[in-house]
Amino acid sequence: MSTSTPIFTADSTRYTNGMVYARCGRSGVMLPKVSLGFWHNFGAEGDFALQRRIARYAFDHGITHFDLANNYGPPPGSAEETLGRLMNDDFKTYRDELFISTKAGYEMWAGPYGNWGSRKSLMASLDQSLRRMRLDYVDLFYSHRYDPATPLEETLQAMVDIVRAGKALYLGISRWPLEATRFAVDYLARHDTPLLIYQGRLNRLDQAPVIEGINDFCQERGIGFISFSPLAQGLLTDRYLHGIPANSRMTQGRFLKPEMLTPELLNQLNVWNEEAKTQGLTLAEASLLWILQHRSVTSVLVGASSVEQLANNLGVLRHIEK
Ligand SMILES: NC(=O)c1ccc[n+]([C@@H]2O[C@H](COP(=O)([O-])OP(=O)(O)OC[C@H]3O[C@@H](n4cnc5c(N)ncnc54)[C@H](OP(=O)(O)O)[C@@H]3O)[C@@H](O)[C@H]2O)c1
Repeated sequence: MSTSTPIFTADSTRYTNGMVYARCGRSGVMLPKVSLGFWHNFGAEGDFALQRRIARYAFDHGITHFDLANNYGPPPGSAEETLGRLMNDDFKTYRDELFISTKAGYEMWAGPYGNWGSRKSLMASLDQSLRRMRLDYVDLFYSHRYDPATPLEETLQAMVDIVRAGKALYLGISRWPLEATRFAVDYLARHDTPLLIYQGRLNRLDQAPVIEGINDFCQERGIGFISFSPLAQGLLTDRYLHGIPANSRMTQGRFLKPEMLTPELLNQLNVWNEEAKTQGLTLAEASLLWILQHRSVTSVLVGASSVEQLANNLGVLRHIEK
């Protein structure tokens, strides 16, 4: 007797129920203003039923862009495996409606080839990612970080060749400094694989890419910009206004540490929360709106540990110019 797999039928209103799409730089690609990241909450240690509810809710509300990386988990690689399971069970027939990205550049496997930006590392990593995600190609492949020790030409030529081999449609870079970004843009343009997008952390508590000139440069050169950790991992929501909830990211203490929540920051968050209320917004909505009001920003890449959080974050769409 065969076991039946639940068949997922996406909501027929998914493209008319509020999502706004923006052109990614001067490319042909439209991205949703709110995209979903798989860094946290999608690893093997999570509850697959919940992960599936979040992913389905996202897709049902027009979130066509899921962002991954080789090392997302925990354990590393397992978020891609979760996506692979979702692709197989739920999204197989929707592949052409999804824009899926992955990355390589942080430590992934032991030895000299499982890290940084060599041709060897990027090529092997993407092959592994495709197997885990059960995909033939990704829509977008990123260099996850700038590698000061590898010649930029080597990293970039590997990326060009990845596109030529049909394993990725577009290319992106994340957290590269401005000068190296300029080099990348020129190199990739000369090789007919223009840089699609820059992924950087821009939020109300961290404006580094704007200060460093990355956003202006992207705007000038027709490159999209997507903001990761737009809610500063939850700080820019009501999550920590009344203490540290037991099941929050801060209790894991790995990337968001309790010492980051200083009394000064808490005061600032309360001020922003009150301000948001007077505008009829939640703090999360106001925080996302602040980012999306930058002309250079194509999309915000949110994380969520529940459907309710994602629903709240999508509330920002009611407040942006269409
Ligand atoms: N390129 C890079 O180097 C890089 C680095 C980091 C992230 N990223 C990408 O960016 C994505 C998002 O990063 P992130 O997860 O840090 O994003 P985030 O949106 O800043 O933070 C997500 C966390 O904030 C909390 N949260 C979200 N919405 C909420 C709401 N409405 N109310 C209350 N709490 C809420 C949840 O924390 P709890 O879990 O506590 O509930 C959630 O897990 C990642 O998945 C990844 O794709 C890329």
